[in-house]
Amino acid sequence: MPVKTARGTLLGELPLVCPSCRRQAGGGRLVTQHKLSLSSARRVSGGHILEGALSCEEGCGRRYPIRKGVPCITKKPFSPPRGSVASGALPAYLHAHYGEFEGGLRGAGPGWLGDNSGFWSALRGALPKNGAHAAAIDLGCGVGRLTFELAKRSRVAVGIDLDFEALALAASFAREGRVEYRVWERELSSRPARNSYRPPGNAVFIMADALDPPFPAGYFGVAAAANLLDSIARPARLLRRMDSLLAPSGSMVLTSPFSWKEHVTQRSEWLESRTLDGPSTLKGIFCGRLRPGLGLRYRVEREIPAVRWSLRDHARHENAFLAQILRARKLLGPARDRQ
Ligand SMILES: C[S@@+](CC[C@H](N)C(=O)[O-])C[C@H]1O[C@@H](n2cnc3c(N)ncnc32)[C@H](O)[C@@H]1O
Repeated sequence: MPVKTARGTLLGELPLVCPSCRRQAGGGRLVTQHKLSLSSARRVSGGHILEGALSCEEGCGRRYPIRKGVPCITKKPFSPPRGSVASGALPAYLHAHYGEFEGGLRGAGPGWLGDNSGFWSALRGALPKNGAHAAAIDLGCGVGRLTFELAKRSRVAVGIDLDFEALALAASFAREGRVEYRVWERELSSRPARNSYRPPGNAVFIMADALDPPFPAGYFGVAAAANLLDSIARPARLLRRMDSLLAPSGSMVLTSPFSWKEHVTQRSEWLESRTLDGPSTLKGIFCGRLRPGLGLRYRVEREIPAVRWSLRDHARHENAFLAQILRARKLLGPARDRQ
Protein backbone atom coordinates (compact mmCIF):
# COMPACT_ATOMS: atom_id res chain seq x y z
CA MET A 1 0.00 0.00 0.00
CA PRO A 2 1.60 3.31 -0.99
CA VAL A 3 2.25 5.80 1.78
CA LYS A 4 0.49 9.06 0.93
CA THR A 5 2.30 12.20 1.98
CA ALA A 6 1.46 15.81 1.18
CA ARG A 7 4.74 16.14 -0.74
CA GLY A 8 4.29 12.96 -2.76
CA THR A 9 4.65 9.34 -1.82
CA LEU A 10 8.28 9.23 -0.76
CA LEU A 11 8.31 6.33 1.67
CA GLY A 12 5.75 4.38 -0.36
CA GLU A 13 7.86 4.81 -3.50
CA LEU A 14 10.87 3.11 -1.93
CA PRO A 15 11.22 -0.62 -2.63
CA LEU A 16 11.92 -1.51 1.01
CA VAL A 17 12.69 -5.16 1.66
CA CYS A 18 12.67 -7.17 4.88
CA PRO A 19 16.20 -7.73 6.23
CA SER A 20 14.94 -10.42 8.66
CA CYS A 21 13.88 -13.06 6.12
CA ARG A 22 16.20 -12.22 3.23
CA ARG A 23 18.00 -15.45 2.35
CA GLN A 24 21.16 -16.18 0.41
CA ALA A 25 22.46 -19.34 -1.21
CA GLY A 26 26.12 -20.34 -1.44
CA GLY A 27 28.37 -17.64 -2.94
CA GLY A 28 26.16 -14.93 -1.47
CA ARG A 29 23.56 -15.08 -4.27
CA LEU A 30 20.22 -13.78 -3.11
CA VAL A 31 17.39 -16.28 -3.33
CA THR A 32 14.46 -14.66 -1.49
CA GLN A 33 13.48 -11.20 -0.38
CA HIS A 34 10.09 -9.76 0.52
CA LYS A 35 8.77 -6.24 0.17
CA LEU A 36 7.68 -4.28 3.22
CA SER A 37 4.27 -2.61 3.22
CA LEU A 38 2.72 0.02 5.45
CA SER A 39 0.52 -1.76 8.00
CA SER A 40 -0.42 1.18 10.21
CA ALA A 41 -0.21 4.97 10.26
CA ARG A 42 -1.31 6.17 13.70
CA ARG A 43 -0.01 9.74 13.71
CA VAL A 44 0.17 11.65 10.48
CA SER A 45 1.23 15.28 10.48
CA GLY A 46 1.53 17.52 7.46
CA GLY A 47 1.24 14.38 5.34
CA HIS A 48 4.18 12.63 7.09
CA ILE A 49 3.72 9.44 9.09
CA LEU A 50 5.15 10.11 12.54
CA GLU A 51 4.03 6.89 14.23
CA GLY A 52 3.06 3.67 12.48
CA ALA A 53 4.52 0.40 11.25
CA LEU A 54 5.79 -1.42 8.19
CA SER A 55 5.29 -5.17 7.91
CA CYS A 56 6.68 -8.08 5.95
CA GLU A 57 3.26 -9.39 4.97
CA GLU A 58 4.43 -11.72 2.20
CA GLY A 59 7.29 -13.20 4.22
CA CYS A 60 8.11 -13.56 7.90
CA GLY A 61 5.38 -11.22 9.20
CA ARG A 62 7.90 -9.09 11.11
CA ARG A 63 6.70 -5.55 12.03
CA TYR A 64 9.04 -2.60 11.98
CA PRO A 65 7.93 0.50 13.89
CA ILE A 66 7.93 4.04 12.54
CA ARG A 67 8.85 6.34 15.44
CA LYS A 68 9.10 10.13 15.30
CA GLY A 69 8.88 9.89 11.51
CA VAL A 70 11.73 7.34 11.30
CA PRO A 71 11.07 3.79 10.07
CA CYS A 72 13.25 1.45 12.17
CA ILE A 73 14.16 -1.49 9.91
CA THR A 74 16.86 -3.41 11.72
CA LYS A 75 17.16 -7.18 11.98
CA LYS A 76 18.60 -7.13 15.46
CA PRO A 77 16.93 -5.32 18.35
CA PHE A 78 18.35 -1.81 18.38
CA SER A 79 21.54 -1.11 20.34
CA PRO A 80 23.63 2.02 19.74
CA PRO A 81 26.90 1.39 17.85
CA ARG A 82 30.01 2.26 19.81
CA GLY A 83 32.21 5.19 18.82
CA SER A 84 29.42 6.96 16.94
CA VAL A 85 27.22 9.99 17.10
CA ALA A 86 25.29 8.04 19.73
CA SER A 87 28.21 8.39 22.12
CA GLY A 88 27.17 11.97 22.92
CA ALA A 89 28.72 13.85 20.00
CA LEU A 90 25.38 14.95 18.53
CA PRO A 91 25.93 18.72 19.11
CA ALA A 92 29.38 18.47 17.51
CA TYR A 93 27.93 16.75 14.42
CA LEU A 94 25.08 19.27 14.12
CA HIS A 95 27.62 22.08 14.11
CA ALA A 96 29.89 20.15 11.73
CA HIS A 97 27.04 19.76 9.23
CA TYR A 98 25.20 23.06 9.58
CA GLY A 99 27.59 25.42 11.41
CA GLU A 100 28.49 27.36 8.26
CA PHE A 101 24.86 28.55 8.16
CA GLU A 102 24.89 29.95 11.70
CA GLY A 103 24.64 33.71 11.61
CA GLY A 104 27.51 35.67 13.14
CA LEU A 105 30.22 32.97 13.10
CA ARG A 106 32.15 34.36 10.16
CA GLY A 107 33.14 37.43 12.14
CA ALA A 108 33.90 35.42 15.29
CA GLY A 109 37.52 36.23 16.15
CA PRO A 110 40.60 34.37 14.87
CA GLY A 111 38.74 31.75 12.86
CA TRP A 112 35.83 29.87 14.37
CA LEU A 113 36.18 26.27 15.41
CA GLY A 114 34.32 23.53 13.60
CA ASP A 115 34.34 25.42 10.28
CA ASN A 116 33.69 22.69 7.72
CA SER A 117 32.61 24.97 4.89
CA GLY A 118 35.71 23.90 2.89
CA PHE A 119 34.85 20.22 3.38
CA TRP A 120 31.23 20.66 2.27
CA SER A 121 32.19 22.76 -0.70
CA ALA A 122 34.75 20.11 -1.82
CA LEU A 123 32.29 17.28 -1.23
CA ARG A 124 29.47 19.05 -3.11
CA GLY A 125 31.88 19.61 -5.99
CA ALA A 126 32.72 15.88 -6.03
CA LEU A 127 29.10 14.67 -6.11
CA PRO A 128 28.01 13.26 -9.46
CA LYS A 129 24.92 14.35 -11.34
CA ASN A 130 22.33 11.76 -10.42
CA GLY A 131 19.49 12.75 -12.71
CA ALA A 132 16.03 13.86 -11.65
CA HIS A 133 14.68 10.30 -11.74
CA ALA A 134 17.35 8.49 -9.78
CA ALA A 135 17.58 7.70 -6.09
CA ALA A 136 20.61 8.20 -3.85
CA ILE A 137 21.60 6.68 -0.51
CA ASP A 138 23.80 8.10 2.24
CA LEU A 139 25.02 5.34 4.57
CA GLY A 140 25.85 6.36 8.14
CA CYS A 141 24.17 9.70 7.47
CA GLY A 142 24.28 11.05 11.04
CA VAL A 143 22.34 14.33 11.17
CA GLY A 144 21.75 14.34 7.42
CA ARG A 145 23.61 17.12 5.60
CA LEU A 146 25.01 14.86 2.87
CA THR A 147 21.58 13.21 2.44
CA PHE A 148 20.12 16.66 1.80
CA GLU A 149 22.89 17.55 -0.67
CA LEU A 150 22.20 14.28 -2.52
CA ALA A 151 18.45 14.97 -2.44
CA LYS A 152 19.03 18.28 -4.24
CA ARG A 153 20.53 16.26 -7.12
CA SER A 154 18.09 13.30 -7.10
CA ARG A 155 14.44 12.32 -7.17
CA VAL A 156 14.76 11.06 -3.62
CA ALA A 157 17.63 10.55 -1.19
CA VAL A 158 17.63 8.08 1.68
CA GLY A 159 19.80 8.51 4.77
CA ILE A 160 20.37 5.42 6.88
CA ASP A 161 22.07 5.19 10.25
CA LEU A 162 21.75 3.26 13.51
CA ASP A 163 21.59 6.40 15.63
CA PHE A 164 17.90 7.00 16.23
CA GLU A 165 18.37 10.40 17.88
CA ALA A 166 20.36 11.77 14.93
CA LEU A 167 17.85 10.36 12.44
CA ALA A 168 14.84 11.80 14.29
CA LEU A 169 16.47 15.23 14.14
CA ALA A 170 17.29 14.92 10.43
CA ALA A 171 13.74 13.71 9.69
CA SER A 172 12.30 16.70 11.55
CA PHE A 173 14.58 19.05 9.54
CA ALA A 174 13.20 17.50 6.31
CA ARG A 175 9.60 17.87 7.51
CA GLU A 176 9.95 21.39 8.86
CA GLY A 177 12.21 22.71 6.09
CA ARG A 178 14.57 24.26 8.63
CA VAL A 179 17.36 23.22 10.95
CA GLU A 180 17.13 23.89 14.70
CA TYR A 181 19.56 22.90 17.47
CA ARG A 182 21.64 24.36 20.29
CA VAL A 183 25.32 25.19 20.01
CA TRP A 184 27.77 24.89 22.94
CA GLU A 185 29.78 27.97 23.86
CA ARG A 186 31.47 26.50 26.94
CA GLU A 187 31.25 23.17 28.77
CA LEU A 188 28.35 24.59 30.78
CA SER A 189 26.49 26.89 28.44
CA SER A 190 24.70 26.57 25.12
CA ARG A 191 22.54 28.83 22.97
CA PRO A 192 20.04 28.23 20.15
CA ALA A 193 21.76 28.23 16.76
CA ARG A 194 20.09 30.60 14.29
CA ASN A 195 20.54 28.57 11.15
CA SER A 196 19.67 29.52 7.60
CA TYR A 197 20.17 26.08 5.94
CA ARG A 198 17.00 25.07 4.09
CA PRO A 199 16.78 21.29 3.69
CA PRO A 200 14.89 19.94 0.69
CA GLY A 201 11.75 17.88 1.37
CA ASN A 202 12.68 14.83 -0.75
CA ALA A 203 14.92 13.13 1.85
CA VAL A 204 13.86 10.09 3.89
CA PHE A 205 15.68 8.93 7.03
CA ILE A 206 15.58 5.28 8.05
CA MET A 207 17.16 3.44 10.96
CA ALA A 208 18.95 0.55 9.26
CA ASP A 209 22.29 -1.24 9.29
CA ALA A 210 24.62 -0.11 6.51
CA LEU A 211 25.94 -3.70 6.46
CA ASP A 212 22.43 -5.05 5.87
CA PRO A 213 20.46 -2.27 4.14
CA PRO A 214 16.73 -2.96 3.47
CA PHE A 215 16.90 -2.32 -0.29
CA PRO A 216 17.14 -4.54 -3.35
CA ALA A 217 20.31 -4.67 -5.46
CA GLY A 218 20.85 -2.05 -8.12
CA TYR A 219 18.25 0.47 -6.93
CA PHE A 220 20.45 3.55 -6.43
CA GLY A 221 22.29 5.83 -8.85
CA VAL A 222 24.58 7.15 -6.10
CA ALA A 223 25.72 5.47 -2.89
CA ALA A 224 27.69 7.68 -0.52
CA ALA A 225 29.24 7.23 2.90
CA ALA A 226 30.93 10.10 4.69
CA ASN A 227 33.30 9.20 7.48
CA LEU A 228 31.79 5.75 7.95
CA LEU A 229 34.59 3.48 6.67
CA ASP A 230 36.64 3.95 9.86
CA SER A 231 33.54 3.97 12.10
CA ILE A 232 32.15 0.56 11.18
CA ALA A 233 33.13 -2.96 12.15
CA ARG A 234 33.51 -4.32 8.57
CA PRO A 235 34.66 -1.60 6.13
CA ALA A 236 35.36 -4.02 3.25
CA ARG A 237 31.91 -5.53 3.65
CA LEU A 238 30.47 -1.99 3.58
CA LEU A 239 32.10 -1.46 0.17
CA ARG A 240 30.51 -4.68 -1.09
CA ARG A 241 27.09 -3.65 0.21
CA MET A 242 27.40 -0.24 -1.44
CA ASP A 243 28.47 -1.88 -4.69
CA SER A 244 25.44 -4.15 -4.59
CA LEU A 245 23.04 -1.23 -4.01
CA LEU A 246 24.34 0.60 -7.08
CA ALA A 247 22.86 0.36 -10.57
CA PRO A 248 25.28 -0.25 -13.48
CA SER A 249 27.35 2.92 -14.01
CA GLY A 250 26.24 4.28 -10.65
CA SER A 251 28.65 6.32 -8.56
CA MET A 252 30.13 5.63 -5.17
CA VAL A 253 31.25 8.61 -3.09
CA LEU A 254 33.37 8.08 -0.01
CA THR A 255 35.08 10.34 2.46
CA SER A 256 37.26 9.09 5.29
CA PRO A 257 40.03 10.33 7.56
CA PHE A 258 41.13 6.67 8.12
CA SER A 259 41.29 7.34 11.84
CA TRP A 260 40.82 3.74 12.95
CA LYS A 261 39.75 2.78 16.47
CA GLU A 262 40.37 -0.82 17.53
CA HIS A 263 37.26 -0.89 19.71
CA VAL A 264 35.16 -0.17 16.58
CA THR A 265 37.12 -1.91 13.77
CA GLN A 266 39.47 -4.84 14.43
CA ARG A 267 42.97 -4.16 13.13
CA SER A 268 42.70 -7.02 10.61
CA GLU A 269 39.77 -5.16 8.96
CA TRP A 270 41.53 -1.80 8.55
CA LEU A 271 41.84 -0.61 4.96
CA GLU A 272 45.53 0.25 5.25
CA SER A 273 48.81 -1.47 6.06
CA ARG A 274 52.29 -0.61 7.31
CA THR A 275 53.34 0.18 3.76
CA LEU A 276 50.17 1.68 2.29
CA ASP A 277 47.99 4.43 3.75
CA GLY A 278 44.18 4.51 3.67
CA PRO A 279 43.71 6.74 0.60
CA SER A 280 46.11 4.62 -1.53
CA THR A 281 44.50 1.41 -0.28
CA LEU A 282 41.01 2.63 -1.23
CA LYS A 283 42.15 3.68 -4.70
CA GLY A 284 43.89 0.30 -5.12
CA ILE A 285 40.66 -1.50 -4.19
CA PHE A 286 38.63 0.46 -6.74
CA CYS A 287 41.15 -0.17 -9.48
CA GLY A 288 40.99 -3.91 -8.66
CA ARG A 289 44.72 -4.00 -7.77
CA LEU A 290 44.02 -4.68 -4.09
CA ARG A 291 41.50 -7.11 -2.58
CA PRO A 292 40.28 -8.47 -5.95
CA GLY A 293 38.10 -10.91 -3.97
CA LEU A 294 35.73 -8.01 -3.27
CA GLY A 295 34.86 -8.03 -6.96
CA LEU A 296 34.65 -4.25 -7.34
CA ARG A 297 35.02 -2.92 -10.89
CA TYR A 298 35.21 0.87 -10.80
CA ARG A 299 36.93 3.82 -12.40
CA VAL A 300 38.14 6.50 -9.99
CA GLU A 301 36.79 9.78 -11.37
CA ARG A 302 37.69 12.22 -8.66
CA GLU A 303 40.04 12.25 -5.71
CA ILE A 304 40.86 14.93 -3.18
CA PRO A 305 43.54 13.39 -0.97
CA ALA A 306 43.12 15.56 2.13
CA VAL A 307 40.35 17.96 3.15
CA ARG A 308 40.03 19.37 6.64
CA TRP A 309 37.09 18.06 8.68
CA SER A 310 36.55 18.99 12.30
CA LEU A 311 34.25 18.32 15.21
CA ARG A 312 33.82 21.22 17.61
CA ASP A 313 33.18 20.54 21.31
CA HIS A 314 32.72 24.18 22.23
CA ALA A 315 33.98 27.62 21.22
CA ARG A 316 37.57 26.83 22.33
CA HIS A 317 37.97 23.13 21.46
CA GLU A 318 37.79 21.12 18.25
CA ASN A 319 39.11 17.78 16.97
CA ALA A 320 40.46 18.06 13.44
CA PHE A 321 41.00 15.36 10.77
CA LEU A 322 42.19 15.25 7.18
CA ALA A 323 39.73 13.29 5.08
CA GLN A 324 40.13 11.85 1.60
CA ILE A 325 37.21 12.43 -0.78
CA LEU A 326 36.85 9.88 -3.56
CA ARG A 327 34.28 9.34 -6.30
CA ALA A 328 34.31 6.20 -8.42
CA ARG A 329 32.00 5.02 -11.20
CA LYS A 330 30.83 1.43 -11.44
CA LEU A 331 31.91 -0.11 -14.70
CA LEU A 332 29.11 -1.48 -16.83
CA GLY A 333 27.72 -4.84 -15.91
CA PRO A 334 24.53 -6.29 -14.51
CA ALA A 335 23.46 -5.20 -11.02
CA ARG A 336 24.57 -7.99 -8.78
CA ASP A 337 22.21 -9.28 -6.16
CA ARG A 338 25.01 -10.52 -3.93
CA GLN A 339 24.40 -9.06 -0.47
C1 LIG B 1 31.70 9.30 12.20
S1 LIG B 1 29.94 9.34 12.08
C2 LIG B 1 29.72 10.13 10.49
C3 LIG B 1 28.37 10.75 10.35
C4 LIG B 1 28.18 11.56 9.07
N1 LIG B 1 28.23 10.73 7.88
C5 LIG B 1 29.23 12.63 9.00
O1 LIG B 1 30.14 12.53 8.17
O2 LIG B 1 29.18 13.54 9.81
C6 LIG B 1 29.58 7.65 11.69
C7 LIG B 1 28.09 7.38 11.62
O3 LIG B 1 27.88 6.05 11.19
C8 LIG B 1 26.86 5.46 11.96
N2 LIG B 1 27.08 4.00 11.93
C9 LIG B 1 28.06 3.27 12.49
N3 LIG B 1 27.90 1.98 12.18
C10 LIG B 1 26.79 1.90 11.39
C11 LIG B 1 26.10 0.84 10.75
N4 LIG B 1 26.52 -0.44 10.84
N5 LIG B 1 25.01 1.12 10.02
C12 LIG B 1 24.56 2.41 9.90
N6 LIG B 1 25.16 3.45 10.49
C13 LIG B 1 26.26 3.20 11.23
C14 LIG B 1 26.99 6.09 13.33
O4 LIG B 1 25.80 5.99 14.08
C15 LIG B 1 27.35 7.52 12.94
O5 LIG B 1 26.22 8.32 12.76
